[in-house]
Amino acid sequence: MTAVADKPRAITSRTDPRFEVVLYKHVGVEGAHTLAYYRQHGGYEALKKALTGMKPAEVTDEVKRSGLRGRGGAGFPTGVKWSFMPPVDGRQRFIVCNADESEPGSFKDRYIMEDDPHQLLEGMAIAGYAIGATKGVLYIRGEYYRAYERLREAIAEARAEGLLGRDLFGSGFDFDVILHRGAGAYICGEETALMNSFEGLRANPRLKPPFPAQAGVYGLPTTINNVESLASVVHIISRGADWFAAMGTEDSKGTKLYQLSGPAVRPGVYELPMGATFRELIFDLGGGVTEPVKALIPGGSSTPMLPFTDDVLDTPMDYGAIVKKGSMLGTGGVILIPRDKCIVNATWNLVRFYAHESCGKCTPCREGISGWMTKMYQKLVAGLGEAGDLELIEMMAENIKGKAFCPLADACLGPVLSSIAHFRDEYEYLIAHGRPMYTRSSWWKDA
Ligand SMILES: Cc1cc2nc3c(=O)[nH]c(=O)nc-3n(C[C@H](O)[C@H](O)[C@H](O)COP(=O)(O)O)c2cc1C
Repeated sequence: MTAVADKPRAITSRTDPRFEVVLYKHVGVEGAHTLAYYRQHGGYEALKKALTGMKPAEVTDEVKRSGLRGRGGAGFPTGVKWSFMPPVDGRQRFIVCNADESEPGSFKDRYIMEDDPHQLLEGMAIAGYAIGATKGVLYIRGEYYRAYERLREAIAEARAEGLLGRDLFGSGFDFDVILHRGAGAYICGEETALMNSFEGLRANPRLKPPFPAQAGVYGLPTTINNVESLASVVHIISRGADWFAAMGTEDSKGTKLYQLSGPAVRPGVYELPMGATFRELIFDLGGGVTEPVKALIPGGSSTPMLPFTDDVLDTPMDYGAIVKKGSMLGTGGVILIPRDKCIVNATWNLVRFYAHESCGKCTPCREGISGWMTKMYQKLVAGLGEAGDLELIEMMAENIKGKAFCPLADACLGPVLSSIAHFRDEYEYLIAHGRPMYTRSSWWKDA
């Protein structure tokens, strides 16, 4: 685990005044992490409403009707996932919160946990009630120490006030949260690897099926959701599915946390309704760019990069529209790549990340990403590339794609294949000249 310096406050919680801020309303506010503050601002009222006025199935239906799609990357409808849980049969059940957030470009969950931890605990309790789970597992990335401390304090406060524990709001429903720190590995965010890690095993992914709803934590029925998804549930219950569904686009409802990084004037986290365009995020909110930009990664490092064109900038940031452009919304982590940065170097940086974070369980990822792909990029950035190398990389990618045990290997192919597709000229220049077209890179001697 890497030690990370503590940050005194959220780097940003900037939002567009034209839109209502929901999830980040209290992020960045001094003292917002305390239970007293949270309750003064209506905290735990949604949980009370669910426990005292709704049946578990009604809570699930409300979330289904809202159209909320999972904010952890894949965008699977949250209410539908909850309804996969088997009928209650007396066995222990779990709601797991995935707070691993290790993908480069993604840093939205962190500030919810640091500045508004009760929002997440309340969301977990509501989800637990809906699916019949009396135990919540909050699996947090090891490096997120400040968030961990805030959550630990929040859990203690909630227990002391009877908001976690037995018989919540006199409803007969018991719920408590186990806070578990990971040791800082990207693979731990994959839901089945996360469960293994939580159980004290090596964080290798598990074969699916059985899916977590059938056999999750300790082989028991489990539902796993992202931090932002669970925080959204609080507002869906308190304000209703129709309110949530009224925001966004046809296939992507509600409000979303977008993260902007790279050479933006104001990088940070911005809350917008689904379907706002990249242009609105980067120029209206982010203040534009500090230098010319050539590419944009739309949703965290695994999502294929797109050229920084007017057409891409005017694309709505929702699940469907970005797929039509050849990428994915992912976590909404928008990374800008400067024009003068060597694209091969930028891609190598990401390949190195995925190679390092691979668990090594399966051959396509171990030999394909950590082995062959790494060697090919080492060769390219050393200026030793030859004719045929790009075709070899593409052929290797074809043999890895969809063949690995979990999506981590495919995640690495996102930057590889998209960078070759959109910036092949830079690769070819490097191979032909033995030096990069743009020398701003961490490895080139002229940099
Ligand atoms: C390698 C890998 C890493 C992942 N990391 C995370 C993560 O850090 N946080 C997260 O919520 N989902 C992550 N996911 C997705 C989870 O497996 C899972 O789909 C998600 O937590 C489900 O929550 P949601 O339905 O609310 O989106 C990752 C997936 C893969 C393949």
